[in-house]
Amino acid sequence: MNVLTAEQFDTDEMQEIFDSTLQFMGNESSSALRRETAQRFVGRQLCSLFYEPSTRTRLSFEGAAAKLGMGVVSTENAATFSSAAKGETLEDSIQVIDEYNFDVIVLRHPRTGSAAHAAAVSSVPIINAGDGKGEHPTQALLDAFTIDNYHKRLDNLNVVIGGDLKHGRTARSLATLLAKYPDNNLTFVSVPELQMESDILDKLKEHGTKHEETTEVYDALRHADVVYWTRLQTERLENPDHAGANSYTLDQAALEVLPEHAIIMHPLPRVGEITTDVDHDPRAVYFKQAGFGLYVRMALIDRILGEQ
Ligand code: NCD
Repeated sequence: MNVLTAEQFDTDEMQEIFDSTLQFMGNESSSALRRETAQRFVGRQLCSLFYEPSTRTRLSFEGAAAKLGMGVVSTENAATFSSAAKGETLEDSIQVIDEYNFDVIVLRHPRTGSAAHAAAVSSVPIINAGDGKGEHPTQALLDAFTIDNYHKRLDNLNVVIGGDLKHGRTARSLATLLAKYPDNNLTFVSVPELQMESDILDKLKEHGTKHEETTEVYDALRHADVVYWTRLQTERLENPDHAGANSYTLDQAALEVLPEHAIIMHPLPRVGEITTDVDHDPRAVYFKQAGFGLYVRMALIDRILGEQ
């Protein structure tokens, strides 16, 4: 099983992944269960291949593999230090790595569609850890897990997604997942130049998911169950004029209009679009969200390797 897009998951499968995530989280509180978990995939290996910067995704995948007893082989700066710097294509690199018989490859690459291209030449499962401005399906799974953890549902939610939606792959993948559940209402907050691309809007229409685009952040926040904020993707801006198109900032004033029961999420890294004083608000769950990522990724690896 490859993990290439959020589109591939159905709600039953997501529930199974979340159940398994909870189990792995629960195992942490018992040293006996931790040891048992660390026996699960002894002798198997995860290869992590990152052509773009990463803190959370790489460390949580490698940490997840380590907690499952796997060996980890990693290139954290493949764009500079792998043969890509000499001109080797991703497809050639993947075919070579294929010969090393790892059990799963986690790939982050700046080109949209790269994970699917890698999967086409790989006999080893590929996990898309972010392909340009395409998708970040494992982030969307951990985002959905976070929402479910706090609201106990993934349907009938007002979800406000803000920031650089044109280039932000996490917002695209999350919207794709949320469209699979009934009665969600998505509000995209951004400047018009950085709004959500039409392929995702079409998908929402297909599923009958209500959605609107706005520049009015406070109006949107007033009715939110979930606020999902993202940074300006400066490394992906085709038009340097947009560099000044700041994503909106969530600060104390924004908190005042936000309902008590809402949660504030962010895939991180944040670069000023949530002020640090918001961190102390009980609605701010972005660090917890990042923490859940490790266990969601354990559940995913477990699912993929369980099939082999
Ligand atoms: C995101 C990414 O790489 O797309 N980071 C992450 O994996 N948590 C978000 C971002 O870089 O803005």
